[in-house]
Amino acid sequence: MAKEVRTIGVLTSGGDAPGMNACIRAVVRQGIARGRKIMGIRRGYSGLLNEEIVPMDTHSVSDIISRGGTILQTARCPEFKELEYQKKAADICRKHGIDGLVVIGGDGSFKGAQKLSKQGINTIGVPGTIDLDIACTDYTIGFDTAVNTAMDAIDKVRDTSTSHERCSIIEVMGRGAGYIALWCGIANGAEDVLLPELYDYDEQKLVNHIIDGRRRGKQHHIIVNAEGIGHSASMAKRIEAATGIETRATILGHMQRGGSPTAKDRVYASTMGAMAADLLCEGKSDRLVAHKHGDFVDFDIDEALAMTKTLDPFQVEICQTLGNSDYKLKDK
Ligand code: ADP
Ligand code: F6P
Repeated sequence: MAKEVRTIGVLTSGGDAPGMNACIRAVVRQGIARGRKIMGIRRGYSGLLNEEIVPMDTHSVSDIISRGGTILQTARCPEFKELEYQKKAADICRKHGIDGLVVIGGDGSFKGAQKLSKQGINTIGVPGTIDLDIACTDYTIGFDTAVNTAMDAIDKVRDTSTSHERCSIIEVMGRGAGYIALWCGIANGAEDVLLPELYDYDEQKLVNHIIDGRRRGKQHHIIVNAEGIGHSASMAKRIEAATGIETRATILGHMQRGGSPTAKDRVYASTMGAMAADLLCEGKSDRLVAHKHGDFVDFDIDEALAMTKTLDPFQVEICQTLGNSDYKLKDK
């Protein structure tokens, strides 16, 4: 039976992502427009357990839509996996009158939301991660900005790589997922892209491809390497030794998580945040907001967490074809 929610809490959890502020703003303003009280919870589940809870009004989210990061701060909180702390968190929510909670984060954060709802707090998850590794959705808050940031950086590396006729390995984030690498591979026209989902660890093929490119007159060789494969610095040394071509490694790192969100991230994050507030106002719980096949939708949290997804095979194929790659990655 639908439960009336009077006070909505909102928190960000796991790695931050550009657009989280736009989402927080939307939860706050949509919730207030629906006559609800809003409480901001700082530092994710860790802040919830420490009762870092502050009332929010429309002014508390002024001037944040263009800012990267999260004004609520974020944290990882390992103890939240234990029942004792989930119970404690639910009691704290009740103490502060919070009967509905919006959790902006990734799969781990959603598992926390799932557990909290079992303790009687209505929860809605909104996908926020630059990694795009949430199965139920084609979009996650921050991915678009992160890819654009990485793309700009790789364009710059390419300029100097061409001038010096070098090979460049550029490592992008994504944890175990290759979405950022794949998109940069296509957007930057990389000669090679190394994806954790597919890479067969045959470095000799990479070496042959670089040598062949040089023979055909290529002035640079851009390799986008996903964090899930890593070891870019040692790979660069081995490639330089094997090819005789100067090779440099650049690890883009946390710059990919910062910066002003793109229009897409602002608009999608705003839409998802407003939807999350609406779902709570309708008495819904255990749902994840998603963007699937071009529509904003919501899924049951258990079903969503059981879903799996893989890289789009056509995108993988064109990444190789358009990058003029003549060596094929092997399916694991
Ligand atoms: P993300 O949300 O980006 O996937 P993490 O995997 O680091 O990031 O998870 C963020 C937080 O979510 C964890 O620090 C923990 O507080 C909570 N969490 C993760 N997994 C679980 C779980 N199985 N049960 C309860 N809470 C969890
Ligand atoms: O999940 C986002 C992400 O940036 C991943 O791409 C990366 O593996 C991880 O977080 C880095 O985490 P931290 O900021 O804790 O080093």
